[in-house]
Amino acid sequence: MPRRSSSASTAGWCYAGVVRTTIRHAGQSFAIAGPSCVATDPAYRGRGFATRAVAAATRSIEHSDRDVGIFTCDPPLARFYARAGAWPVVPHVVLVGSRDEGALDSTPLGKAGLMRLFSAKARAAAEELSHTTIDLGLPVGQFLWGPGVRPRCEAPAPDRAAGATPPPSRASGRRFRRR
Ligand SMILES: CC(C)(COP(=O)(O)OP(=O)(O)OC[C@H]1O[C@@H](n2cnc3c(N)ncnc32)[C@H](O)[C@@H]1OP(=O)(O)O)[C@@H](O)C(=O)NCCC(=O)NCCS
Repeated sequence: MPRRSSSASTAGWCYAGVVRTTIRHAGQSFAIAGPSCVATDPAYRGRGFATRAVAAATRSIEHSDRDVGIFTCDPPLARFYARAGAWPVVPHVVLVGSRDEGALDSTPLGKAGLMRLFSAKARAAAEELSHTTIDLGLPVGQFLWGPGVRPRCEAPAPDRAAGATPPPSRASGRRFRRR
């Protein structure tokens, strides 16, 4: 889990965490991960910081033992993630927190699913992973990724990030000085 760190009043921030878990799908288990809590200090947006943070988070997933990279975003941000980490939208994949009543579901939340298949096992299961509902196996009310839904990490939900100082991730947090 990301660690908290103290903030300097002159420092801006940009954050991209990585959340990892294991799911069961189509009779197999898959180690999955995805960028999470991506946010930039409002005073520093539009300067490429989040692009670099997401690229670093993506590299850390690519170089890990993960079978699948998967997360959700608001549809207008799909282009940003495609550019930052070559994340394609998977239009026929629905992510649900669990099969329980009341579990969070990417469709009514209006989220786009993004997915990359990294391991040979995942690529062999491409068909089963491409037109499907993926159950994240989370307690009701929890969802791993996506603005407006608090992820299971210590950073504030991205839409509440203004004025806050999220902790940098060991993999991809970026802190920078005001010029
Ligand atoms: C999205 C966010 C992280 C981008 O941070 P940033 O440091 O400004 O990002 P970069 O400068 O690397 O890239 C900005 C690009 O993202 C695009 N972008 C940012 N917010 C966007 C939005 N809401 N809808 C569509 N595109 C958006 C910008 O247009 C820009 O694209 P361009 O280079 O083609 O003009 C930042 O706006 C933010 O913190 N937003 C609130 C939290 C949030 O929504 N996080 C995403 C969670 S899925």
